[in-house]
Amino acid sequence: MSADPILAPHRSIRMFRAEPLAEGTIERLVAEAQRAPTDATGQMYSFVRVLDRARRRRIAELSGDQQHVLDAAEFLVACADLHRLERVLELDGRAPGEYPATGLHFAVIDATLATQRLIDAAEAIGLGTVCIGGILNGVEELIDLLVLPRGVLPLFGLCVGWPGEEPVARPRVALASVLHADTYHELTPEAAAADVAAMAAITRSGDWSSVLARYFAVGGTMEEREPALRRALERQGFAWQ
Ligand SMILES: Cc1cc2nc3c(=O)[nH]c(=O)nc-3n(C[C@H](O)[C@H](O)[C@H](O)COP(=O)(O)O)c2cc1C
Repeated sequence: MSADPILAPHRSIRMFRAEPLAEGTIERLVAEAQRAPTDATGQMYSFVRVLDRARRRRIAELSGDQQHVLDAAEFLVACADLHRLERVLELDGRAPGEYPATGLHFAVIDATLATQRLIDAAEAIGLGTVCIGGILNGVEELIDLLVLPRGVLPLFGLCVGWPGEEPVARPRVALASVLHADTYHELTPEAAAADVAAMAAITRSGDWSSVLARYFAVGGTMEEREPALRRALERQGFAWQ
């Protein structure tokens, strides 16, 4: 089953024109991001705008030499941020509580909702974006590079710039795979196979299952990233026993 679209289709952009954004554009986009809903009014996120070229080059390297990280007019790092609100509590001498799991949960939600709104706003004025999860490959060095205090965890990068390509909207799994009625329904082998077929166009080899395996199967990149992320969670105050 498909549904009539409401919004213009989103596409990640990985080729950017060498053209800066107009003065004040990033501030406008982040102001839009700030209108996102936020749990407990906490606004538990920060964006670090990377202006320094040497820093940007190092982040591109850490992210697996992704050329679009260098080419985009702007590069932001979206962070979960529990640090800033602790400064507010301190104004009245209140000690912050101990809630690493809950804090991580809500700060990731806040940062993600804000970033999605930023992406929507960027696309609405003709800009292109792509999220960069590759920053996790060098998460510990990134914390040093951006001088992030305890309570601030980098989540993903975001390239923003003028599109230099017009990719077609990339496929998604069936609506029925993600929409459940009242209770969770298990994906049947037939529906799983149909999803793999639907996603074939996103891969060069036409095999989405193999792409997923490179990330999520035993020995995949998710497992590779796990030790450094756990250390980063510990260092930034988001770990628990
Ligand atoms: C958290 C996150 C991390 C991502 N990391 C990368 C990345 O490191 N490099 C990249 O080129 N695309 C990255 N992407 C973009 C996805 O590959 C892209 O959204 C997906 O292939 C679907 O394509 P579409 O956005 O054009 O619909 C990331 C997306 C998300 C949400």
